[in-house]
Amino acid sequence: MLIPRPVSISDSSGSFALTPATTIHAPDAPEVAALLRELLTPVTGLPLPDAPDPGPQAIAMLVDPAATDLGAEGYRLDVARTGVTAVATGSAGLRWAVQALRQLLPASAFASGPVLDVSWTVTPVSIVDTPRYPWRGLLIDVGRWHKPVAWLRTVVDVLAMHRMNVLHLHLTDDQGWRFEVRKHPRLTEVGAFRASSPRGHETEGLSDGTPHGGFYTQDELRDLVAYAARRGVTIVPEIDLPGHMQAAIAAYPRLGNDPANPPEVWTRFGVSHRVLNVADETVAFVTDVLDELMDVFPSPWIHLGGDEVPLDEWRTSPAAADRIAAEGLTGAEDLLGWWIRRAAAHVARNGRRAVLWDELVGQAAPPDAIVMAWRGHDRIAEGLRDGHDVIATPHEHLYLDYPASDAPGEPLSIRTGYAEGHGPTTLDHVYTYRPEPAGLPQDLPSRVIGVQANLWSEYTPTPAGAEYNLLPRLAAVAEIAWGTPAAPDSFRTRLRAHLRRFDEAGLNYRPLD
Ligand code: ACM
Repeated sequence: MLIPRPVSISDSSGSFALTPATTIHAPDAPEVAALLRELLTPVTGLPLPDAPDPGPQAIAMLVDPAATDLGAEGYRLDVARTGVTAVATGSAGLRWAVQALRQLLPASAFASGPVLDVSWTVTPVSIVDTPRYPWRGLLIDVGRWHKPVAWLRTVVDVLAMHRMNVLHLHLTDDQGWRFEVRKHPRLTEVGAFRASSPRGHETEGLSDGTPHGGFYTQDELRDLVAYAARRGVTIVPEIDLPGHMQAAIAAYPRLGNDPANPPEVWTRFGVSHRVLNVADETVAFVTDVLDELMDVFPSPWIHLGGDEVPLDEWRTSPAAADRIAAEGLTGAEDLLGWWIRRAAAHVARNGRRAVLWDELVGQAAPPDAIVMAWRGHDRIAEGLRDGHDVIATPHEHLYLDYPASDAPGEPLSIRTGYAEGHGPTTLDHVYTYRPEPAGLPQDLPSRVIGVQANLWSEYTPTPAGAEYNLLPRLAAVAEIAWGTPAAPDSFRTRLRAHLRRFDEAGLNYRPLD
């Protein structure tokens, strides 16, 4: 009953139970032994000490670099009467074996506190398993509503249990700047707080009259990065450039196109027309921000945004006209690519790869930049044709802030009141989505390197509301991304058992229809 479904799973001969005598033998992966203990000892009360020898009653976690068929993240897991053996080419695969092993235990293995009177029997199976897509991600938008860092750890736990490996943190937006930048402290002193938020749906034009704000210190984020790394999850930070920047411009009006009329941190939802100007000093300011960001986040990928950049301000700005002339650009529509090329070059100088929203397709983005195709499934093929690796995150399939049904009673959402060009984003709609575009030359589809769900948060101020949108649809995303989807009915059967794990973990989720 594993989710995501392993590539191959068969019955094995002997069941095994964790007892006070159980040890962990992980000579080449002590960090994985530590993870197994971190996850299981608090709930089972079992000490699970390290054992230098495999011996009977051991959980063996073995690194075998020659097991190349398993790739970087695959694993084999065998449960026998005498113990459990996991094999992988390195700790990445062994971490997924740990998560698979947890799902072979009773659901109460996912409880957050001690559970007594349970026999910790491991279902007797043999698994051979490798993921299809190396990037299996989830975006969490903390720009619109700050969320406690403790909840971000919960999100990491949820990702890891689904063998998903990327948490994309959308750290900045018009409505709030959440990343502490020591060189430019007003970004959080001013930019992290807004005077009010919409009440009801944005289109009603009402205000709740209540200030909102918050940000993450660099120390908090370093802790989060380490917590996630122990679980095999990379945190990919996003600074959304050069639009979605009203909070930063409120903090430092000189970054904007109309410093004499600075905006406030935005109290509405939507896309602000206040964008960064094109001065060298503004590029330098952004590179300062990126330097601190790269210092906190060791991720090989840095997301530079690039979505939804209104051109109005640049079209009327003399400085933008000068920039267009000096750089030999056609017009304001080229300034998005100009901006992103500068930021991406800085990231590349630091050995990182830029990730960009699909607006950058056709904008002369650096060839090694990864495109996140969000404006529709068709954008995947466009990104591939433009020569990029692509992550599939089309809104009509994988935006989990969209309602899960069109029945009355769904929570307020960004789609409320809009005529849909597609149906609701039901569990089955997510589960039956396949990211590979049809009709491309043979070598292109392999450059779809990932699948990601995005949880925008205009209408989910609380963790509980965000979890309700996330779960259980994220389980469907995980199975598509791992690359082993089956018939929706068989998924639902496994999902019913999986929901027990959410119950044990105290997660809020939308009940199945
Ligand atoms: C996006 O949804 N604006 C990337």
